[in-house]
Amino acid sequence: MTDMDKLLSLAKRRGFVFPGSDIYGGLANSWDYGPLGAELKKNVKDAWWDRFVRQRGDMVGIDAALIMNPKVWEASGHLANFSDPLTECTACHTRYRADQIDMSAACANCGKKGTFTEPAQFNMMLKTFLGAKEGTEAVAYFRPETAQSMFADFKLVQETSRKRLPFGIAQVGKAFRNEITPGNFIFRTREFEQMEVEYFVHPDDWEKHFEAWLQELKGWLAFCGVKEENLHYNEISEADRAFYSKRTIDIEYKYPFGLKELYGLAYRGDYDLKRHMEKSGADLRYTDPVTNEKYLPHVIEPSLGVDRTVLVVMLEAYHEEQAPTSEEGENDLRVVMRFPKALAPYKIAVLPLSKKEELAVPAAELAASLRKRWATDYDETQSIGKRYRRQDEIGTPYCITYDFDSLQDQAVTVRDRDTMKQERVKLSELEAYLATNLGF
Ligand code: GAP
Repeated sequence: MTDMDKLLSLAKRRGFVFPGSDIYGGLANSWDYGPLGAELKKNVKDAWWDRFVRQRGDMVGIDAALIMNPKVWEASGHLANFSDPLTECTACHTRYRADQIDMSAACANCGKKGTFTEPAQFNMMLKTFLGAKEGTEAVAYFRPETAQSMFADFKLVQETSRKRLPFGIAQVGKAFRNEITPGNFIFRTREFEQMEVEYFVHPDDWEKHFEAWLQELKGWLAFCGVKEENLHYNEISEADRAFYSKRTIDIEYKYPFGLKELYGLAYRGDYDLKRHMEKSGADLRYTDPVTNEKYLPHVIEPSLGVDRTVLVVMLEAYHEEQAPTSEEGENDLRVVMRFPKALAPYKIAVLPLSKKEELAVPAAELAASLRKRWATDYDETQSIGKRYRRQDEIGTPYCITYDFDSLQDQAVTVRDRDTMKQERVKLSELEAYLATNLGF
């Protein structure tokens, strides 16, 4: 299993993810995605959007405002119920989620026993004030999930896109929660991103669509390089499910810090549309154009965290292995990020064998031409072995070495990240070779 400390160290060293506001001493549990992390995260979101919106005729996407009318959160129940039980150690004032600790045990921070306060419900909505005047009339909230705007916009989206049921609305974007115990790197933070779908169906059909979405999520996880053996499908019991849900599955992952939630798949019935219809007065019912039946659609909701996806993609990709002696890397312990090729931050790196102009100029030109199609790095510093190691660590699938022979034979050496095999490829055939091997 990948060691969290090693992953954190690589993430910082190579510019994937590092502590936010670092020069000011950071801000607890705030993380910034650096150049490679931003590419990786964007590739995850783009792949999800392509797979679940662009490639499907029954899906459309929206990009809604982060701050909505507070009545939305009244209707959804978030203002009344979106809370966790909070307890505090009276000796050292460390705060805990009461449902995550043994209240009869000693405080994990100061070691004192019997110091926990009676748990109190703590609302996780992140409050803000709109306008120049701070006062109750201007209170607003940062959305705690992307889901509610897809319910609030349901009618407008359905009418303007002219989609018939079953169809889904998708959204990718930021969500905010005043979590009591954020932590474990980017696993739980107060600011994070979600990729959510609200799939609207006829009430009689929910079971088959729930099953279909479960299969879709399994396919997505395989695409992300997540091994089935690291996943656990937790069927939530009736007692633990939301009262409106007849079926919910938490997809859990075996993180180095324990088995915990990765994604959720929930059948939400007509709970959300019904609440918004009651509170707003808008008629959110759908009329079937064939049967004329008028009804409130029921909803299947696959809800995915972007940051947790990035975390598991990195955990699955991380490999340490003994490098063969044939490669001239100084360190024989090779760290390689075996990202799925579609998600790798760079697809290709062009490496001239020498910094001399006669090689560096055509190599840089080659990198510029490949960059038109694929994310391409260019690196001319240090030995070729060190450069291979550097590209392995950031998960670049193909390194292209431009050497002195290239000037004569118009060919380059292409090295495969995973097998480390090298092949001589003619420049005239290079693009076709890469397209075949990358698969796009
Ligand atoms: N609309 C349903 C919903 O938001 P959720 O289980 O509260 O359900 C869905 O959140 C997903 O969002 C989680 O499975 C997880 O991937 C991600 N997520 C939730 N809270 C998070 C946090 N504090 N930090 C990072 N990701 C989080």
